[in-house]
Amino acid sequence: MPLQLTSLAGKTIMVSGSTGALGGAVVNAALAAGARVAAVVRKSWQVDVVKSAHPGVPLLVGCVPDTDGEAAAGFAKGVNDALGGIDTLLCCNGAFAANAIGRDPAGELQELMTANVLSVATLARGTVGVMKRQKRGAIVCVGSAAVGSGGTHVANYLASKAALHEWVRALATELDGTGVRACAIVPSTIDTEANRRAMPDADASKWLPLEIVVRAMFAAAFAGAGSGPMFPVGKGD
Ligand SMILES: NC(=O)c1ccc[n+]([C@@H]2O[C@H](COP(=O)([O-])OP(=O)(O)OC[C@H]3O[C@@H](n4cnc5c(N)ncnc54)[C@H](OP(=O)(O)O)[C@@H]3O)[C@@H](O)[C@H]2O)c1
Repeated sequence: MPLQLTSLAGKTIMVSGSTGALGGAVVNAALAAGARVAAVVRKSWQVDVVKSAHPGVPLLVGCVPDTDGEAAAGFAKGVNDALGGIDTLLCCNGAFAANAIGRDPAGELQELMTANVLSVATLARGTVGVMKRQKRGAIVCVGSAAVGSGGTHVANYLASKAALHEWVRALATELDGTGVRACAIVPSTIDTEANRRAMPDADASKWLPLEIVVRAMFAAAFAGAGSGPMFPVGKGD
């Protein structure tokens, strides 16, 4: 099913994790819907990779290493100056790992906290000032429907996503009345090439089609004031 969004002409959309499955699809959908798009990568060589995937398209691409607050604030300022505001920051970055505790690589919890919480918080922190000054905007994160499940071998992953959920809830409360919203979509397993490769025997028909998750990101970004902050994603969305 091709993804069709209503026009996003006039909107400025910042997308992190733009080298990933969801982030790449969000960038494609936002450009196709006429938005001004600023994509965030975390390694400098990825700037050219993302730009060259969209030849002839006025796509701004900036590098913000994982927890580099100065780079995040600098890119947000550059986007604001070049594109005239930031309507939404769609944080599509994150990571997954499944290992039994004790057999998990040293530092796995720290890496997942960085990927799923600290890098998101760094981008949000760098962008929220722009949004507060313009008195509008939405920071949209990607949580996980597995939070609260106590799933096996995913303690590190679930801890990082649970932290993200609570961080988003608290930020949403803090931003109440500013015109800026923080929220998270909460998907279950997404039908990506990486998941199909990692779980060849799983029933992929039970997974969320990527386009439904992309649509959920935009729906959360442009939802009315007072909605959210958590948006479960279902196959019927
Ligand atoms: N796929 C699923 O089934 C599923 C289910 C529930 C929730 N989610 C969440 O949905 C989001 C997108 O998932 P996806 O399937 O598109 O993942 P993906 O294809 O693996 O892409 C992940 C993106 O995050 C970036 N990233 C990884 N570690 C990072 C770090 N430490 N700091 C900053 N950026 C980092 C990656 O950059 P590099 O290219 O540089 O590595 C990449 O752009 C993630 O938050 C994920 O947790 C996914």
